[in-house]
Amino acid sequence: MVKIAPSILSADFLNLKPEVDDVLRGGADWLHVDVMDGVFVPNISIGIPVVQSLRRGTDAFLDVHLMIDRPQRYVREFCAAGANMLVFHLEAAEPQDVLDALRAVLEQGKQVGLAIKPRTPATALLPYLDLVDLVLVMTVEPGFGGQKFMGDQLPKIRALREMLRKLNPDCLLEVDGGIDPATAPLVTEAGANVLVAGSAVFGKADRAAAIAAIRNACVAPEQG
Ligand code: DX5
Ligand code: ZN
Repeated sequence: MVKIAPSILSADFLNLKPEVDDVLRGGADWLHVDVMDGVFVPNISIGIPVVQSLRRGTDAFLDVHLMIDRPQRYVREFCAAGANMLVFHLEAAEPQDVLDALRAVLEQGKQVGLAIKPRTPATALLPYLDLVDLVLVMTVEPGFGGQKFMGDQLPKIRALREMLRKLNPDCLLEVDGGIDPATAPLVTEAGANVLVAGSAVFGKADRAAAIAAIRNACVAPEQG
C-alpha cells in the first residue's frame, strides 16, 4: 500500500545509473528527483538534463519535486523530459499561476502534485485538492537532505488526510524529509502513503535492507 520513493539527492551522482538500479532492485516503488534553483530554496541541485538521462536509463516512475521559483515557467519541459509525476510548491507561484501550471501538467498526460513547506497550513491547499493526484507535506525545511524530521507536521498530515477523505479520496499523500524506520510509523499512522527517503536509503550500504526496514515500520492505513 505505502510507496517508498528514494531521493536521489543523497545518491552518488558519479554513479547515478548503478545507484538507481540498486534501489530499484532493492524494492523502491518510485524515484524521487529533487530540483532546486538556489532561489526558492538556498541550494542548487539538478535539472532537466538529469531527468532526461534518468528517463533514458530506467522505466521507473519518476517523481519530480520542483523546489523552484515560478514553476509555471518549466513544468512543460519537465513533463517532456520524462517526469511521471510533477510536484511543485504552492508558495512558489501566484494562485492563477498555480492553476495554470496544474492544468499544463495534466494536459501533458502526467500526474501532478502540490507541495507545502512546514509553515504553510493544510487549508492553503483547499482550493486545489480536487485537481491534484498528490499532496506533499514537507517534514523538513526544503533545501537539503539529512535534516531532522519535524514532528510538529504530524497534525497537518492528519488534517490533510481528513480533508482528502472527503474531497479527493484517491489523492496520494506524500511526506518528505527525515523519513527513516523511526519516523515511518508516525507519518503512516497520520495518513501518509508515499514516503520519500534520501539519506535513510542512499546513506546505507544495503539499500534493499534500508527500504525493507522503512516498509516494515509502516503502519497499515485504516480502512473506510
Ligand atoms: C529536501 C528534499 C528531500 C531530501 C530528503 O529539500 O526535498 O527530498 O532529499 O532527504 P532526507 O530523507 O535525507 O531527509
Ligand atoms: Zn523532495
